[in-house]
Amino acid sequence: MSNSDYSTSVGSINLSNPLILASGILDENGYTMKRILTEGAAAAVTKSIGTDERNGYKPPIVAVDDPIFINAVGLPNPGINNVGEEIKIARESGKPIIGSIFGKDENEFINLAGKMEDYGVSAVELNLSCPHVKGFGSEIGGDPILVKKIVNGVKGSIKIPVWAKLSPNVTNLLDIANAASDSDALVLINTVRGMKIDIYSGKPVLSNRVGGLSGSSIKPVGIRCVYEVKSNLDIPVIGVGGIESGLDAVEYIMAGATAVQIGTAIWKYGRAVFTKVLTELNDFMDSEGYGKIEELRGIALK
Ligand SMILES: Cc1cc2nc3c(=O)[nH]c(=O)nc-3n(C[C@H](O)[C@H](O)[C@H](O)COP(=O)(O)O)c2cc1C
Repeated sequence: MSNSDYSTSVGSINLSNPLILASGILDENGYTMKRILTEGAAAAVTKSIGTDERNGYKPPIVAVDDPIFINAVGLPNPGINNVGEEIKIARESGKPIIGSIFGKDENEFINLAGKMEDYGVSAVELNLSCPHVKGFGSEIGGDPILVKKIVNGVKGSIKIPVWAKLSPNVTNLLDIANAASDSDALVLINTVRGMKIDIYSGKPVLSNRVGGLSGSSIKPVGIRCVYEVKSNLDIPVIGVGGIESGLDAVEYIMAGATAVQIGTAIWKYGRAVFTKVLTELNDFMDSEGYGKIEELRGIALK
């Protein structure tokens, strides 16, 4: 590694580098989060946690045909009262842990956020964007009035920063981003609604039929969303969607992202993906003469 400075901060949260573990991949368990944090990630977002324990959908919950990766896991999680110990273990890493939560209305979000704050997370991430669970996620995240209510309600009820994770599956992203603009950062994007049919059985592969597309095939959608929001709003944005290499991370940062999250690439490269991305980011910065992440940020917007 060279002398490049990778440090960045999302509002008051300082990160040693711009890479964060995305919600939903190896982050339901304190030890796996801790392990990923010792292997390069600067922070980790937990699996989205709801009020009650949920089993999620029955298999098949993923349809994979590289680079296509579609999941409909159905928000399985142990429920908010059972995650305190996992967060405690993950916090032993000394790095920021972000508590992701989902609920059906403002009151549920407020209650979940308060419990996350009590568990000692550095920020909460509001999942306003899961594309495949009825009553949660996109159904809420597509309604600007509800989004504003939830974001402002949570903001007014806790002291730690609030990140709002938005969906690309909306007609007007800027309406939703504006509605969420009292949050401390926007996280763009959750998965893109998609489907896969098994042509031999003539049936949808996923038990839920519809799922969320992630991985490299959604990167251009993520870049567009970050670019569109950063062109119109002055709010920190965390980019996520299809990041597999340091060059992918550079693209998001040039579109205006302050930091990035990595999810699906872990399936392909394992935990080592964080070191891989960081090394490639370093090589790019060295060869192109950038000394700091700051120098890359938003240059495509000018
Ligand atoms: C198996 C799986 C489970 C996921 N679970 C969640 C979740 O619980 N909450 C959430 O906000 N996003 C969830 N996501 C979405 C990711 O956090 C991320 O926004 C998306 O996959 C795009 O990034 P990627 O291409 O790096 O995976 C999940 C994604 C996958 C693949």
